[in-house]
Amino acid sequence: MASSLLDNSPPSTPGKFKPDKAPPYLHHHHHRSLRLQSNISKLTFYSFLFLVLFFFFFLLSPPSSSSPRRQLSADLPGGRQWEKKVLKSTRPESAGFFTVLVTGAAGFVGTHVSIALKRRGDGVLGLDNFNHYYDVNLKHARRNVLDRAGIFVVEGDINDADLLRRLFDVVHFTHVMHLAAQAGVRYAMQNPKSYVHSNIAGFVNLLEVCKSANPQPAIVWASSSSVYGLNSKVPFSEKDRTDRPASLYAATKKAGEEIAHTYNHIHGLSITGLRFFTVYGPWGRPDMAYFFFTKDILKGKEISVFETADGRSVARDFTYIDDIVKGCLGALDTAKKSTGSGGKKKGPAQLRIYNLGNTSPVPMTKMVSILEKLLKVKAKKKAQPLPKNGDVEFTHANISLAQRELGYKPATGLESGLKKFVRWYVSYYGTTKKKNGSSSAL
Ligand SMILES: NC(=O)c1ccc[n+]([C@@H]2O[C@H](COP(=O)([O-])OP(=O)(O)OC[C@H]3O[C@@H](n4cnc5c(N)ncnc54)[C@H](O)[C@@H]3O)[C@@H](O)[C@H]2O)c1
Repeated sequence: MASSLLDNSPPSTPGKFKPDKAPPYLHHHHHRSLRLQSNISKLTFYSFLFLVLFFFFFLLSPPSSSSPRRQLSADLPGGRQWEKKVLKSTRPESAGFFTVLVTGAAGFVGTHVSIALKRRGDGVLGLDNFNHYYDVNLKHARRNVLDRAGIFVVEGDINDADLLRRLFDVVHFTHVMHLAAQAGVRYAMQNPKSYVHSNIAGFVNLLEVCKSANPQPAIVWASSSSVYGLNSKVPFSEKDRTDRPASLYAATKKAGEEIAHTYNHIHGLSITGLRFFTVYGPWGRPDMAYFFFTKDILKGKEISVFETADGRSVARDFTYIDDIVKGCLGALDTAKKSTGSGGKKKGPAQLRIYNLGNTSPVPMTKMVSILEKLLKVKAKKKAQPLPKNGDVEFTHANISLAQRELGYKPATGLESGLKKFVRWYVSYYGTTKKKNGSSSAL
């Protein structure tokens, strides 16, 4: 083909150029026509050359760093080794134990839940994208704790369908504990898309893979007390309205609850949503008030304590991490099997939603005075009106449903919980934040 083009012969596309049967006007302009033919041939030749070079470039160049295939191979050093690690991590102690995929495993709640599952004999695999929403070193330190407990954390995003499918090919997960999310209420003003990426698109992607998995796993996932939004009826009950979110974070969690309904209804996935109320404790999240108040009090920095328009302190139903873990395990233990197969529903499946709180809201001023006592430092407090960028004035959980159906019974009050947090904080950061004690036990 290349030589015929070099001969200036007509292009080979049939029926497009037939010089023998050319219309008469072409003969009048024979020389011009020949020049035209020659130009067309040249053009075709250079186009062809361009195409050849183009294909060579793409065939010979390595895939770009953003392609999922490359991400996968980076995550799979040697492939087989990776698979071995995955299988070892997910092996339950014996038959009857669960095999759980924990998303957001390097996060605060994810780390604690993963350890608790592993300790009781379940097989656990973590998944986390180690994003930089807060200090990523803390996530790596949590990963080290998980590693020592025999839990492998795969680095990847819940939006990566190839990776998720691959994980489900290698392991038959009985359950998915879905904790990966863009958390935080105020950050939504800065980076709204990250909420859509993780809490909506990522959740849908995960459910798509779960729906097609064979067998389908049962799913337990973290919603949030923030779905109650501007609700003022206390305590918040699962029956209360949740259609007035006060932040984009809350709106994406509420969307998650509706999305869960759809996948349960169409595909027979067993799904349980847990509305956590302000979780705190060792290895916590640096963007939460109790955490950065501790840091700032120790540094002698002023802290802003928010109050409502009528001068009352903002209050939170603080829930200690160990209680939340028990609630998560209770939800996994009582989750019924999904009913679908091959993506199709075979019968009605379980769909639940529970509050996991502590049932005793504490004013922020009280939380600060507990921290002052534990740290033995007087805080420089500044009362400020609650900014209208997503936070609500108070939260208060009614937990009778979780008590009845999950055996959930919070056992740690704020004072003893914060004592454990401060002990961890000081051992991890030191009081001057110089020491990095990533070896702290959980
Ligand atoms: N801590 C609380 O007070 C609280 C309250 C209500 C709800 N929740 C919910 O509980 C869950 C756990 O919260 P947390 O406090 O442990 O938060 P966290 O930020 O410490 O943990 C979430 C983890 O998910 C990972 N992640 C985020 N997006 C991801 C993605 N697209 N793919 C893979 N990994 C991703 C992050 O890197 C992080 O390690 C979240 O769903 C959160 O919204 C938490």
